[in-house]
Amino acid sequence: MEIEGIRALVTGANRGIGRAFVEELLARGAALVHATARDLEELQDLAATDRDRIRPLELDVTDAAGIEELAAATAELDLLINNAGVDCPAAIAGTEGMAEIRRAMEVNYFGVLSMSRAFAPVLARSAHSGIINVGSMASFMHVADNTGYCASKAAQLMLSHGLRHELSVQGTRVVQVLPGFVDTDMGSRFPMPKASPRSIAGAALDGLLVGEDLVLPDRFARMSYEALVTAPERVMRTPDAVVAELVAELLANQPAD
Ligand SMILES: NC(=O)c1ccc[n+]([C@@H]2O[C@H](COP(=O)([O-])OP(=O)(O)OC[C@H]3O[C@@H](n4cnc5c(N)ncnc54)[C@H](OP(=O)(O)O)[C@@H]3O)[C@@H](O)[C@H]2O)c1
Repeated sequence: MEIEGIRALVTGANRGIGRAFVEELLARGAALVHATARDLEELQDLAATDRDRIRPLELDVTDAAGIEELAAATAELDLLINNAGVDCPAAIAGTEGMAEIRRAMEVNYFGVLSMSRAFAPVLARSAHSGIINVGSMASFMHVADNTGYCASKAAQLMLSHGLRHELSVQGTRVVQVLPGFVDTDMGSRFPMPKASPRSIAGAALDGLLVGEDLVLPDRFARMSYEALVTAPERVMRTPDAVVAELVAELLANQPAD
């Protein structure tokens, strides 16, 4: 698969990593990028940078009918990038926060599932197709005070495994990207070195091109994964302590990319 000449769709393209995906796809010669967001107005400045190749579209990934409608109207697509996501710092044992916890599951898991189900038949018509799901190192490592987010991203990781298995028959590659801390609105509450959104998008596309199933796009993601494979029992039993140690190491040895 090549990026040159492809037709792609990115969710949550108005800011952060989603916007970086659009820019990186265009820089690498994509023919057309469906840049989708909940608020069409927020895509206007991005669309103005390349009116021939950026198609701004309104899409909420929790709107099942809207997703079906868009898939039915999309004749050709080579690459679906499920990037839209929400954070979830709500306490799971608190008296409030249930709506936020459900929301994380709706966007980060069911949103990716609905998009993938709707667009799989469209991707099947492409000679070379792929799906990139933007997960997190929180897909495999618990991060304290963000359990709702971790649970939704863990569910998304299992979803990617299942999609890869089922869609291999139609030749669609499925790549799960597992970033650490990224310099976006979502990452702003974490006071530590962060990778650039563009480096995450670039690493994900590189991973797709070389046939990787999992992409660890930044240093914290790689440190976390290394802890998982070298000390799985520690990660399973005391993930919060492991993450605290990794964060201390990241702070002591910058940069994050
Ligand atoms: N930043 C990090 O440190 C980090 C680390 C690991 C993984 N990630 C993942 O990277 C992805 C992108 O996050 P980001 O860092 O770029 O965060 P961000 O700047 O907060 O952007 C999140 C994007 O998702 C969109 N979105 C949220 N709910 C949506 C919905 N229901 N339908 C459609 N779009 C929706 C947002 O749109 P609105 O503007 O309309 O809200 C926005 O475009 C997420 O999946 C996130 O979990 C981020």
